[in-house]
Amino acid sequence: MLGASVKGYSLKPEKESLFNQVKKDLKCKTVFADIRDRKKLEKELLSFEPDFVFHLAAQSLVRPSYQIPIDTFEINAIGTANILDAIRKLKKSCAAVIITTDKVYENNESGKAFLESDPLGGYDPYSASKACAEIVTSSFTNSFFNLKGYKSHKKAIATARAGNVIGGGDYSKDRLIPDIYKALKEDVSVKIRSPKSVRPWQYVLEPLSGYMQLAALMAQEPQKYSSAYNFGPEPRDILDVETIVKSAIKAFGKGNYKIEELKNMPHEAKLLSLNISKAKSNLGWKPMLNSKQAITKTMLWYKNALVKNTNIFELCKKDIHDFTNN
Ligand SMILES: NC(=O)c1ccc[n+]([C@@H]2O[C@H](COP(=O)([O-])OP(=O)(O)OC[C@H]3O[C@@H](n4cnc5c(N)ncnc54)[C@H](O)[C@@H]3O)[C@@H](O)[C@H]2O)c1
Repeated sequence: MLGASVKGYSLKPEKESLFNQVKKDLKCKTVFADIRDRKKLEKELLSFEPDFVFHLAAQSLVRPSYQIPIDTFEINAIGTANILDAIRKLKKSCAAVIITTDKVYENNESGKAFLESDPLGGYDPYSASKACAEIVTSSFTNSFFNLKGYKSHKKAIATARAGNVIGGGDYSKDRLIPDIYKALKEDVSVKIRSPKSVRPWQYVLEPLSGYMQLAALMAQEPQKYSSAYNFGPEPRDILDVETIVKSAIKAFGKGNYKIEELKNMPHEAKLLSLNISKAKSNLGWKPMLNSKQAITKTMLWYKNALVKNTNIFELCKKDIHDFTNN
């Protein structure tokens, strides 16, 4: 919509996916391949000569990371190294935003809102692999993209650590909003396993606009902006799962839920909160929607998408227009 030429690189999408819903209207080059395939990745990146790289590809879920820890580390840590190494070989300027997560912080669940300068950690393989991605990025930055030598290498690299993202078009397994949508669509009760878990929930276009804002500023003033940033909601929007479920049901207009606290579940942090002052003061970014608005927009997207003959691409475009006009 901003007139950029875009190339995407990812695994083949699941059958039920936003990509498949919009692909006939998408005007971007698409490559289906693995970021662990270093040669292919390098070839595709170098031939496209991007001005900007947004690295989002990941094994992005906590619970599956307990089942496939080695894949999770390979994709999230080595995959990030592969991308940075391909960027190192680019013979032109490039600003890259490496998306990690708010789960990269050493979390003793004290309720403290994490600052970018806080120590990295990670209990489960997903969180630890993303903390590894941060360390890999820091090593590449120090070794190859040192800001003191920017004039010769012309690469600006930053990391972005986002809180929990919600929005229409997410059909992932084992995620709260897609689980709510699937239950409401099938007219069954929403089952929630950790009603009191607290997370920084935010509408999907909030962090995406932050990543773009960050990349644009990095291209102008790399020395000033290339570092790590948290993107999350305001503190009042750091809510527990049960509150989210109640709001989602209200916005969807029907449904109910039951709590099924499962025993012997692998560890998942119950409390996580982010301090977003750096993104606010340095980038001029701030969240536009509160959590109630984010949940309402998300559930309305799913509701509209269920209406026969809805053009999903137009639905997404309208949401982007509404958000940017805000
Ligand atoms: N969803 C959230 O709440 C959230 C919060 C913070 C950070 N993040 C991070 O943001 C990014 C995007 O999250 P999402 O929710 O869209 O994730 P997603 O799981 O919906 O999408 C991940 C994408 O990565 C691709 N991918 C996975 N493994 C790959 C591989 N080996 N090679 C190439 N492509 C591969 C998939 O094909 C998919 O397109 C991820 O890095 C995730 O860790 C997500």
